[in-house]
Amino acid sequence: MKQKLSIAIDGPAAAGKSTVAKIIAEHYSYIYIDTGAMYRALTYKALENNIDLHDEDKVADVLSTINIELLPTEEGQNVMVNEENVTEIIRSNEVTNNVSIVAMHSKVREEMLKRQRQLAREGGVVMDGRDIGTHVLPNAELKIFLRASVEERAKRRHEENQKKGFSSNLEQLKQEIANRDKLDSEREVAPLRKADDAIEIDTTALSILDVVNKIENYIEERL
Ligand code: CDP
Ligand code: CDP
Repeated sequence: MKQKLSIAIDGPAAAGKSTVAKIIAEHYSYIYIDTGAMYRALTYKALENNIDLHDEDKVADVLSTINIELLPTEEGQNVMVNEENVTEIIRSNEVTNNVSIVAMHSKVREEMLKRQRQLAREGGVVMDGRDIGTHVLPNAELKIFLRASVEERAKRRHEENQKKGFSSNLEQLKQEIANRDKLDSEREVAPLRKADDAIEIDTTALSILDVVNKIENYIEERL
C-alpha cells in the first residue's frame, strides 16, 4: 500500500493555500485541515462574548469551552463550533481584522497545536496555516511555502469579494493584508516563517492549476 504523507502548506494571507490544499486533499483522498479556520472560530466566539482580545487568559478560557470541528463537504469544509455552523461568519471583516491578535497568545497557540496534531495523527493530511512546517508538523514529508506579491494577493481577495457580491476596496484590502502579515510575522510565538526544509513557490504569476501541478509533482516524488 502507498504511504500516506503529511503535507504542510504555509504562507501569508491570500497566497492560495486553502484553494490548492483542498484540491490536493481531494485528489489523494487526504484530510484537509484549515488551521486558520480554527483561529477564526475562536476569534468569532471571543468577539461574541465581548472578551478583550488582548487578554490572553480570557481568550484561552473561551478556547477551553469550545469544540471546533472541521467537517468535509462537497465544496471544502464546514466549520462547526459547539455544533453551530460558523463557516460563513468567520470570514467576516470583523473576524479577519482581529484574528491576528488572538493568534499572538502563547496559551492559545499551545492548545491549538495540541488539537491540530491530534487531527493529523494518522497522516494522510494536507494542513494549511502559518506555522505548520515550523511547529505543528515539523516532520511533515512535504512542506510548501506559498508566496505572492501583496498587490496580487489583494487583487485575488478583491475579485473573490466581487464574485460573492460583497463591497470591496482594493487599496483597503492591500493595507489590511499587509497589516495582518506584519502581525503574523512579527509575533513572538510561532511566527509566519518558511521552514528551512520547505519548498518555496511564488504564485504571483501562476494559475491555481499550475500551483497544484507543481505540488503534486513533489508529492509523487515522495510516494
Ligand atoms: O485565509 P487567510 O490567509 O486570510 O487566513 P487564515 O489562513 O484563515 O488565517 C487567519 C489568521 O489566523 C492568520 O492571519 C493568523 O493570524 C492566524 N493563523 C495562525 O496564526 N496560525 C495558523 N497556523 C493559521 C492561522
Ligand atoms: O488560503 P489563502 O488565504 O492563502 O488563499 P485562498 O483563499 O486559497 O486564495 C485566495 C484567492 O486567490 C482565491 O479566490 C483563489 O481562487 C485565488 N487564486 C489562487 O488561490 N491561486 C492562484 N494561483 C491564483 C488565484
